[in-house]
Amino acid sequence: HALFRPIQEAAPPSPTKRHTKISVVGAGNVGMAIAQTILTQHLADELALVDAKPDMLRGEMLDLQHAAAFLPHTKILASTDYSVTAGSDICIITAGARQLPGETRLSLLQRNLALFKQIVPPVAKHSPGALLVVVSNPVDVLTYIAWKLSGFPPNRVIGSGTNLDSSRFKFLLAEHLEVNAQDVQAYMVGEHGDSSVALWSSISVGGVPILSQLTKDKAAMEQGVLERIRKAVVESAYEVIRLKGYTSWAIGYSVASLARSLLRDQHRIHPVSLLAKGFYGIPEDHEVFLSLPAQLGRSGVLSVANIQLSEEEAARLRRSADTLWELQRQLEI
Ligand code: NAI
Ligand code: 2OP
Repeated sequence: HALFRPIQEAAPPSPTKRHTKISVVGAGNVGMAIAQTILTQHLADELALVDAKPDMLRGEMLDLQHAAAFLPHTKILASTDYSVTAGSDICIITAGARQLPGETRLSLLQRNLALFKQIVPPVAKHSPGALLVVVSNPVDVLTYIAWKLSGFPPNRVIGSGTNLDSSRFKFLLAEHLEVNAQDVQAYMVGEHGDSSVALWSSISVGGVPILSQLTKDKAAMEQGVLERIRKAVVESAYEVIRLKGYTSWAIGYSVASLARSLLRDQHRIHPVSLLAKGFYGIPEDHEVFLSLPAQLGRSGVLSVANIQLSEEEAARLRRSADTLWELQRQLEI
């Protein structure tokens, strides 16, 4: 006795509606924050989770599945075996060691390099056409490593980069200026971490450029406030880690926003970590990934915005690139 009687005349599924699948490797604080944001925003038809801890992973999968009555329909799978990720449109990698209070992101490099050698090849094998989004830290160097290990073209390997730092920047600027953060246009670029670069010269609110509107005296005073804000952005993660042990909600929303722009071919601009050689004076032989404002769509990075940088901003960006390049040269991938 069938539960429902099929309607023979019902139209077949529209050929234009594609089944979409996102995989998240690493079901810790960050992976689960991303997974739950993807579910609530209904960004995919299927969500696959991978982690090395089978019981915790199954527990997380069941806990999410039990929310089925409150969420848009999404098939949720989980396994320690990478075959569960097969045919993904986007694979998001969040597995790995995280910072202890006071520890820098760069100190995680050797531990997470060893993990990426286990993770990236099977991810690439099971989803050869996917977009790779790297979140584990240090995110810029690990995005370079994921590019090398996957053999994917650079436009399909993206680090979450300073999309998060830029949101922190907008939040603090909005508080200072008493406006809505969504009306603030402001970018942090370069390394996601201690050498990130704030692009002062291009900050605007509702189309009003902030620095060029001010008189010289006021601008000098405002520069001091802005420098304090930049430092606060760099300090943000350290503070949250000191207080709660890890960061998760903001990175969850940040990566979900990237997944949306990529999967839905939005052509939106996000500062993300991409192969930066040749842009903004970064030497052609520096195969570094760092964040620049880029247009994202279904095929990955579509273009890089040509923002007018001040000399100081450009010099800071090149220093950020040099820092990462020096680190990468010592790696054995
Ligand atoms: P966590 O410790 O909660 O989770 C890490 C997960 O990775 C664990 O569940 C662990 O079992 C799993 N894992 C370890 N080895 C694995 C392997 N070989 N295969 C599959 N899974 C494996 O850590 P949390 O807080 O989720 O952070 C994860 C990473 O994300 C860290 O590197 C952290 O620094 C980074 N992060 C990056 C941000 C960014 O803006 N790029 C923001 C916040 C965190
Ligand atoms: C963050 O900025 C720790 O990279 C991580 O939240």
